[in-house]
Amino acid sequence: MEKKKWWQKAVFYQIYPRSFADSNNNGIGDLQGVIERLDYLQELGIDAIWFSPFFSSPQKDFGYDISDYRTIDPGYGTMKDFEELLEKAHSLDIKIILDMVLNHTSDEHPWFLESRSNTTNPKRDWYIWRKGRGKKQDKPPNNWRAVFGGNAWKWDKYTQEYFFHQFLPFQPDLNWRNSAVQEEMLETVRFWVEKGVDGFRLDIIHTLFEDKDFRDNPRSWRLLPSSDSTAYLFQNPKYTAFLPETINMCIHIRSLIDSYVPERMVVGEVMGGPRIFRPLYGENNNGLNLVFNFKFSDQSFSAKKFFQVIQETESILSDPYWPCYVFSNHDKTRMISRVGNNEKKAKLLTLLLLTVRGTPFIYYGEEIGMHQGKIPKEALKDPLAKLKVMGIPIGKFLGRDGCRTPMQWDNSSGNAGFSPKLDTIPWLPISTNSDVINVENQKNDEKSMLSYFKQLIHLRKSENALCEGKLLNLSIPCKNCLTFERLGYQEGKLVALLVIFNFNNKLIQIQNPYPSSTIIFSTESLNLLSSTTDNITIQAYEGLLTKFSFESVS
Ligand code: NOJ
Repeated sequence: MEKKKWWQKAVFYQIYPRSFADSNNNGIGDLQGVIERLDYLQELGIDAIWFSPFFSSPQKDFGYDISDYRTIDPGYGTMKDFEELLEKAHSLDIKIILDMVLNHTSDEHPWFLESRSNTTNPKRDWYIWRKGRGKKQDKPPNNWRAVFGGNAWKWDKYTQEYFFHQFLPFQPDLNWRNSAVQEEMLETVRFWVEKGVDGFRLDIIHTLFEDKDFRDNPRSWRLLPSSDSTAYLFQNPKYTAFLPETINMCIHIRSLIDSYVPERMVVGEVMGGPRIFRPLYGENNNGLNLVFNFKFSDQSFSAKKFFQVIQETESILSDPYWPCYVFSNHDKTRMISRVGNNEKKAKLLTLLLLTVRGTPFIYYGEEIGMHQGKIPKEALKDPLAKLKVMGIPIGKFLGRDGCRTPMQWDNSSGNAGFSPKLDTIPWLPISTNSDVINVENQKNDEKSMLSYFKQLIHLRKSENALCEGKLLNLSIPCKNCLTFERLGYQEGKLVALLVIFNFNNKLIQIQNPYPSSTIIFSTESLNLLSSTTDNITIQAYEGLLTKFSFESVS
């Protein structure tokens, strides 16, 4: 079996910098705050951190609207802080990947200010400008819709043309057909690689290029995008997403980062499931190393649903392609809250995330079972929460503040240890249950979610088959129960790990394919080491892992 790369074996941890740890009492998380918590992350056992953007930005979309790609936003610290963070993380064997928003900038980026200053400015063509349609040229150039609703063209009264924004109106799309834009953005990638970062998460990378003839997108019957279709708001983004030029650029970016030693990685964020995003991996696995598969986060709590996702992913991303699964992030309702804040269910799904073949990403706070925050209307910050489409306030369904509430470090009243001073008011309200759900409470409790995560991550590292092995015999042995095997070599022996997930609210029994195997992990009782018999009994919502070693291989 070919040795796997570091990013295939790693457990990634996403930090939303604004919400992780505030070191200077301004209510906003920062890089020094992260530095102070690196030991915590090392103890948790994660191998790499993905940082949501901390570059200079007006923060209208909290960093996904960048105004300078090569400086740190003063709200988060300085370049010196970043260098210190990188050095300390590396000394603790933790890799760092950054968030590259290549598709668009902030409308306050100096390039855009120049670009909109007049039609002959050298930066004019760095963005996508078009004259309007109709006699008066007052209609948008075509029918393209913005992902977050409304028309994707915004009228600019100064230069009397429209500019294109695939996301929010203050996020104008860069014109990737302009070679100067390509050079500048790729140079930015090099800049950070040469600083020593280990890779990048590429924000909505499937939308990089648009049709050069600006053809109208076809209609669709779909209102909302799903992992099986990229269509949204009654439109199929045929001419605005997954263009061949975008796929070629993914291959180019991969070759750029592959020219560095030691090996770096790129993971893409896209809309759509494996069938749709597979081309971004490249025809010869020479494109993005990984693409987030959000299908886990779309599923209801059902063995059959997860069976279908894994089966589909395994067939589309079979070896040498490598899947990448995720349940929660800064755009999605926290997984535990999607299953009714039920810890047992969350533990079962976490077992799935950390034992299925692929790279897992966990989201800050997931390891302590942080709930989705309930944010009062007046405290909402996310621009999506305030969005209206055709006068309809759709924002209340789209708002993402609830998954971005500050990390709950301890049970101190005020801000749960997020800021050093108790009376500092964080940028978003702390969840009301922070007195119960917090790191301090959980770190010495061996039954806590935090201990569970630590044990599971540790187990994953100690069992080669979990990090590197094949996934075989995916099945549903009885109603609402899922099993698969991970097969790998350990100390010269072929090892089969059978992972069993009981999605039922009652005890079940299944036939044991390896009667003399050992139970090495359970979501219910820790540190289990007992032999199995012909049948295995699994408690309600329990997940189990059994291990069987074949004869030595010569
Ligand atoms: C995807 C990011 O995850 C999201 O937070 C952001 O709003 C959009 N891209 C636009 O950059």
